[in-house]
Amino acid sequence: MKPRAGTGSVTKSVTKKLYIKTYGCQMNVYDSERMADVLAPLGYGLSDNPDDADLVILNTCHIREKAAEKVYSDLGRLKPHQQRKAEDGGRMIIAVAGCVAQAEGDEIMARAPQVDMVFGPQTYHRLPEMISKAKRAVGEKVLDTDFPPEDKFDHLPEERVRKGEVTAFLTIQEGCDKFCTFCVVPYTRGAEYSRPAATVLQEAKRLVADGVREITLLGQNVNAYHGDGPDGREWGLGRLCRALAEIDGLARIRYTTSHPRDVDDDLIAAHGEIEKLMPYLHLPVQSGSDRILEAMNRKHTAAEYRHIVDRLRSARPDLALTSDFIVGYPGESDQDFADTLKLVTDIGYAGAFFFKYSERPGTPAASMREQVDDAVKSERLSTLQQLLDSQQEGFNASMVNRTLPVLLEKPGRHADQLVGRSPYLQPVHLDIPDSRHAAMIGTVIDCTITGLTGHSLFAVPVRDGQAGSDSTNSSNTVDSSNSGSPTPDSADRGQERISA
Ligand code: SAH
Ligand code: SF4
Ligand code: F3S
Repeated sequence: MKPRAGTGSVTKSVTKKLYIKTYGCQMNVYDSERMADVLAPLGYGLSDNPDDADLVILNTCHIREKAAEKVYSDLGRLKPHQQRKAEDGGRMIIAVAGCVAQAEGDEIMARAPQVDMVFGPQTYHRLPEMISKAKRAVGEKVLDTDFPPEDKFDHLPEERVRKGEVTAFLTIQEGCDKFCTFCVVPYTRGAEYSRPAATVLQEAKRLVADGVREITLLGQNVNAYHGDGPDGREWGLGRLCRALAEIDGLARIRYTTSHPRDVDDDLIAAHGEIEKLMPYLHLPVQSGSDRILEAMNRKHTAAEYRHIVDRLRSARPDLALTSDFIVGYPGESDQDFADTLKLVTDIGYAGAFFFKYSERPGTPAASMREQVDDAVKSERLSTLQQLLDSQQEGFNASMVNRTLPVLLEKPGRHADQLVGRSPYLQPVHLDIPDSRHAAMIGTVIDCTITGLTGHSLFAVPVRDGQAGSDSTNSSNTVDSSNSGSPTPDSADRGQERISA
């Protein structure tokens, strides 16, 4: 995923070409957008391709081995572009940002001499300084993988390059203190940090003023949110959602990714009370086996997870759930895997991401002796995939003939087609003449679902001529939805079942 070029309306003149490639989770998508915002005042305008770019940033992901390796092959492909630019008398600065940069800064410098700058996720606000340093000293590399004491969010510009979007990400929390034994995030993103509620609300209001109708709050562990509230108290995620719901013009709120341990009473109540909070929750469980959950340091049992789901569903009966699963964690037996299948069968998911366990250097699980054979991992992945696929298909099929509020986002791939999202984050296609798109994009209209293909639904407006009418989401019917998880780029994931 990469930020699209061309939607910007920042008035500074564009004199340089910027190409950003984003790997990994939505937090990286948000960071890439914010990097573009930091660079716009320096004259950098976003481009869709790296040819001839003055600055290329690879915003990387370290979550699984293949995600990290991809960066090195992309760097190889950039080399001729960089050489060509130099032959023409120009200079292409190549930067590696994100979680691979944080984890393997020195290795990148050694393996890829074409790289000029390497910087970690907490340093983006220092990009202008880093660029001028890289420009001054050809041949000298810039490496910044500190976790600086100052808050990068305090230094990011208010002005956004991308405008006119109906949906937006908003990072409210970063880092993780959970230390699941398989995971690199606590090492790449650092300790957990929550932004003050007032700055989150201010950023949300700005987004809404720019036309955004749906905000997805982001955090590696978003429901661990505990920001300072404007009332001097600490606010949890439920409280924050209530305040966001009061913003006029904001139609929908989502959040991702949540940890079962941090689902508190107030958040459960919020799902029952806040109409704008969509009935969709990505709540990764990873495994259905207590033995494996304990070995993973997930700090909850399968029964506790079921109980949390029961309570959430009591508060919001139509809540659609999605999850992440890891198969082949060290020591996972046939019985452990059977426990996972049982949990999936009992819970019933609207979608999921599933991965083969990938050894990550430096994490406790990587040094465990009982690593599972790749063939066994593949077999388990495909069994789990079949089960989750059939659940997702059933969930999508249950939408047919229902009336759902759809937030209209953009023109479809074909002429006279609009695409929106159901409350459950399913893409919904409607046949609407191009001439009506401008008036309808950004509105929420009630639609009858007429059919489906793959993961997409087809629909017709309940009342034709609803353009401009704006029922906020009210139906408490059904749903599935948002992408929760990191990963769009990893080749070892089973399948990305619900796209962001
Ligand atoms: N904070 C979230 C997940 C962040 S990482 C949570 O706790 O649920 C996103 C997903 O990548 C994880 O949920 C997990 O399923 C997967 N993942 C993380 N490390 C992995 C590894 N070493 N091998 C395979 N999958 C992994
Ligand atoms: Fe933190 Fe999630 Fe990684 Fe666990 S899986 S360490 S909760 S980011
Ligand atoms: Fe980093 Fe997100 Fe990947 S936190 S390791 S980019 S999943």
